[in-house]
Amino acid sequence: MRERTEPRELAVLTVDIFDVSLRCLGDVIASPESQRVVTTPCRQCGCDVETIAINAPFVACDPCLAKHKKDERTKRHRDYWESVCPASYRDTDPKRKDFPLAIWQTIKADYDAQPEQSWFLYGPTGSAKTRTAMLLMLRALHRKDIPVQAIWPEKLAMLNRQSFNDGESYFDRMAKVGMLLLDDALLTACRESKLIDAVKMLLDARMRAKLPTIITSQIGNEDDLAGGKEFGDAKTADLERIKALLRRVRESCRIVSFAKVETGKDQTSF
Ligand SMILES: Nc1ncnc2c1ncn2[C@@H]1O[C@H](COP(=O)(O)OP(=O)(O)OP(=O)(O)O)[C@@H](O)[C@H]1O
Ligand SMILES: [Mg+2]
Ligand SMILES: [Zn+2]
Repeated sequence: MRERTEPRELAVLTVDIFDVSLRCLGDVIASPESQRVVTTPCRQCGCDVETIAINAPFVACDPCLAKHKKDERTKRHRDYWESVCPASYRDTDPKRKDFPLAIWQTIKADYDAQPEQSWFLYGPTGSAKTRTAMLLMLRALHRKDIPVQAIWPEKLAMLNRQSFNDGESYFDRMAKVGMLLLDDALLTACRESKLIDAVKMLLDARMRAKLPTIITSQIGNEDDLAGGKEFGDAKTADLERIKALLRRVRESCRIVSFAKVETGKDQTSF
């Protein structure tokens, strides 16, 4: 049977590294021998790298380090993006004939110049508002490492739920995320007066924090409200709330009007 040795503290062990007897890790690191400059192969590509002796077993050259960092970042972004963007929106190709390329190019340039800008993308169904919003969010994530989130219509009611276990509510989380998409929120919010208020408060909180929000909507102005069957049943007080929310959105966002792209026509003619 093997004899059991009692565990001892690191500081009382004597370590022989770099030909010097040492009593703790700090001594190892500080010893002149470990600080000696040596040439050693990069652990990734094998090219010669100059480094201090203590780093030699772990060293990689600058290009390998940069590549590793980039790969890690790409993987992190890809996993994150998959958790935010539904599969059906991941395949957006701005060059497709039925996609409003010119609108996207304008938004993209404006975003790069003014990343704090919020956006109100409105237009009929199928005019690529949500796809455009997702492209903008992907750009914010990739280019600026900004955390992005989307609130889909079926999740909107969660804004009025109480805190989660960790004490942070969905509202609070959405109020501080770097960039937020509120997809079709106006139509959904008008079903419940409390939701209209929640969306308005969320927008106000984000405006105060100078965080950009993207709102997609089939309703662009008060005239659209008059015709919508969804608003036929709305109480007068709710209708006023929706109008106030719409006004707030229009005041605080850059407004972009979308139209269904006619395929076969010139891309710039909508
Ligand atoms: N893979 C793709 N790449 C680019 N554009 C696409 C692709 N697939 C579809 N489209 C275009 O995008 C449109 C749908 O986009 P999207 O869902 O963003 O519309 P929307 O304006 O948000 O509609 P709704 O108001 O109903 O939500 C299609 O009508 C088509 O013109
Ligand atoms: Mg949409
Ligand atoms: Zn290398």
